[in-house]
Amino acid sequence: MGTRAWRIDPAGPLRGDVTVRGSKNAVTKHMVAAMLGRGPSTIANAPRVGDVEITAQMLRTVGCSVDRDGDTLVVDPAATPAPTVPQSFTGRNRIPVLMLGPLLNLTGEAFVPLVGGDQIGPRPIDFHIQALTAMGAQITVDEGGIHATARRLHGTRVALPYPSVGATESVMLSAVLAEGRTVITNAAIEPEILELALFLQRMGAGIQLQPDRRILIDGVERLHGARTRLAGDRLEAFSYLVAGLLTGGQVRVHGCAQDRLVTAIETLRTMGARFEIEDEHISASAPDGLRSAAVHTDTHPGFMTDWQQPLLVLMSQARGLSVLHETVFENRFAYVRALQQLGCEIELFPMCLGGNACRFHDTNHLHSAVVHGPSKLVGAEVHVPDVRTGFSSVIAASIADGQSVLLDVESLERGYDEPLARLQSIGMAITPVES
Ligand code: EPU
Repeated sequence: MGTRAWRIDPAGPLRGDVTVRGSKNAVTKHMVAAMLGRGPSTIANAPRVGDVEITAQMLRTVGCSVDRDGDTLVVDPAATPAPTVPQSFTGRNRIPVLMLGPLLNLTGEAFVPLVGGDQIGPRPIDFHIQALTAMGAQITVDEGGIHATARRLHGTRVALPYPSVGATESVMLSAVLAEGRTVITNAAIEPEILELALFLQRMGAGIQLQPDRRILIDGVERLHGARTRLAGDRLEAFSYLVAGLLTGGQVRVHGCAQDRLVTAIETLRTMGARFEIEDEHISASAPDGLRSAAVHTDTHPGFMTDWQQPLLVLMSQARGLSVLHETVFENRFAYVRALQQLGCEIELFPMCLGGNACRFHDTNHLHSAVVHGPSKLVGAEVHVPDVRTGFSSVIAASIADGQSVLLDVESLERGYDEPLARLQSIGMAITPVES
């Protein structure tokens, strides 16, 4: 449980420029990839988010050095890494399970603690375990963590039951040094995954991206260090565009290419947003107000699940009834409570509303939201349970009547790069307070 809090007062339209750095969900995976090289790798445009520091600490425990020089991380792998990530990292983030295959290939054995991250569903790791087992690992999972041994992993066919981002990354990071060819079918193809594949290719890996969500990896004996500059975070970019739209202002976002935001831009455009898109920056405004929409989240290139929290706040200020159907995580609406406390009129349903039936139809999971707009928002004291909840509560609070206090904002800082300074720079009246 965190202890830091922010006070937010209404401040009118947010305007100005925000530059986003590389994405949280790419940087940590690149750091794990860098473990596999014989020689240091540099990762430029690295965001200053808590997840990077947690991952750096884990890499150091297995013997890598990780240093930051401005926005650049330098990861120098250990010649013979220790096979164990200490149990004290249990639940800190999603990365330990991604280190399992790499440690097996480098040392023949591995122990990693159980993964954590935001509580947005059970978030099982069965796809990771099944794939590594098929690649020759002997794995036991108990309440203490995951123990594994393997002389060297070997290539195989991995048919993912769902295009999981983490499991695709796990297999890629394991297969690059495995013996022979690995074929992943039904792979996730999020931009952050393609970015990781390109980095591994720079390190000397044999990777082919095939049509129909297939990734072919030919294992090699050794990889070398490489240099890269991370592409801009599409979650942050979207969040700041919405912050401008929601407050009747206009935020110009630099550092995130249009091709990472195609579906987000189109969704906001159908709600009435007008865009100015240049190679260097993208901005959105809604001089004629916003209309309601029906949106469902999906794997790439669909509307991503990490965009839905700011979108729901925006829907609460659009004219009419909107629907948001979450199809990636079964429990991604826990944050709605915080928005309801701030006055957003949102109701949750277990049915698949606003799209085709998803994996969660006929379950009790509340995974569809109906939003009434415009809702009148009022200041409140709200707890921030996870990173994306944090941002949506902040922007909702900034258009509420009266003062709000957001408690436990550490989880927001785990995923957003220097959010306080950025929000203040576009005009938000937000101040850190003792809680
Ligand atoms: N799944 C399984 N078994 C597995 C793995 C996944 O059933 O072994 C299921 C999950 O329960 C979920 C679905 O597959 O229903 C998709 O999960 P996925 O593995 O794709 O998600 P993840 O890798 O755990 C990453 C991001 C999330 C982002 C999702 C989807 C990181 C560290 N996290 O999670 O980001 O929402 O992909 O794009 O990369 C965030 O940044 O706020 C965040 C939660």
